[in-house]
Amino acid sequence: MEDALDEVRSVLKKYNQEHLLNGFEKLDDKKKQTLIDQILNIDFELINSLYINTKNDFCNNNDKIEPMDYLDKYKLNEEYKYYENIGKQAIKSGKLAAVTMAGGQGTRLGHDGPKGTYDIGLDSHKSLFELLCDSLKEEGQKYGVTIPWFIMTSRENNEETLEFFEKNKFFGYKKDKDIFFFIQSELPMVDTEGKILIGEDGLIKQAADGHGGIYEALVNNGMTEKMKQLNIEWVFIGGVDNCLVKMVDPVLMGVAIDKKVTVACKSIVKANPHEKVGVFCKRNGKPGVIEYSEITDEMAEAVDDNGELLYGESHILCNLFSVEAIERMGTTPLPYHSAYKKAKYIDKEGNLVVPDSPNAYKFEAFLFDAFGEVDDMAILRVKREEEFAPVKNADDAGVDCPSTARKLYQEFYSTK
Ligand code: UTP
Repeated sequence: MEDALDEVRSVLKKYNQEHLLNGFEKLDDKKKQTLIDQILNIDFELINSLYINTKNDFCNNNDKIEPMDYLDKYKLNEEYKYYENIGKQAIKSGKLAAVTMAGGQGTRLGHDGPKGTYDIGLDSHKSLFELLCDSLKEEGQKYGVTIPWFIMTSRENNEETLEFFEKNKFFGYKKDKDIFFFIQSELPMVDTEGKILIGEDGLIKQAADGHGGIYEALVNNGMTEKMKQLNIEWVFIGGVDNCLVKMVDPVLMGVAIDKKVTVACKSIVKANPHEKVGVFCKRNGKPGVIEYSEITDEMAEAVDDNGELLYGESHILCNLFSVEAIERMGTTPLPYHSAYKKAKYIDKEGNLVVPDSPNAYKFEAFLFDAFGEVDDMAILRVKREEEFAPVKNADDAGVDCPSTARKLYQEFYSTK
């Protein structure tokens, strides 16, 4: 351990992070070793550059932004059946798997536990995980298959997530046969001076690396290999916090297959031109998503000949990928964005600090930053009331919260 410690000291000195060893002597041997391993695995150059970037706005001002074509699922007319039949065949032959990203911290919701375990207050008191699973099982039954389910967790919530599934007997799924869990990567958090934080456990304070970590996590954890062994060709990737997410959609699959694209995404039309959502666009000729903060008022309000918003197709984290596209995206590094968050930490004197306002930066990759890896993708506009009931905030926010999601869920199922 002494040799490793010498190496650690010199690395920390070089990057001005020597405080990381302040509490070292108080740790037990196991934790000492973990801290050493953590430090030796940190890419300090990367963290440094990410910290420097927090001072600059993430700016793609020189990018050429253009509208992106889309299909409206409910204006397909006779093509609807055509695409649906293609998709149905593929689903029946077991070509589809579902991935749920459940590694987020869910800070806005403020639930004590993994977001997927949250009960949105339905009479059944089912958790988000169970609601998603119900829909997956129901769809699978229609096609006589079990749709394999892959769940991404974080180091922080993996154990609790697994315990929850075990307690619920995996909702009828069979572990390692048709349901698989894997953990996403994480990155250290830094304070406003660029110093890496030490967490309550005396170790480096790390946070999951964003939903953009999905591709690398699928590849590095052997999940894409597993998919290929199972003869899966298409993978729907969605979040855990949309209780109306429709993971099995033959029309979306049919469109992807027929148009020979490797990525097909669902969109919903913006509620109004200034809704704070990211919308699909072409960025320098490649598929992309433009954030509401990047778009000018003029662009946001521009309409086509039919009066439809030119930049009106919101990205709702409902995307279908070929396994090959995931592999490509998983081996291409994505940019990291910083988020300013509240983070408990141990200060230089060894005291626990519990901030009541944001104090630290977390670095996250965004799933849609990988869209530029493919030359083309299909966008399918679906109905908001049928497919989008997000649970982002606590109820006092009044929007995208458990009560709004519950209402949307109940309304949808009462009309089914
Ligand atoms: P959000 O971006 O809404 O973040 O995640 P969040 O972590 O759930 O909530 P806040 O921002 O802390 O309040 C959208 C989806 O992406 C997943 C989330 O679990 C959710 O399903 N996600 C997000 C991950 O799986 N990993 C991440 O690192 C971030």
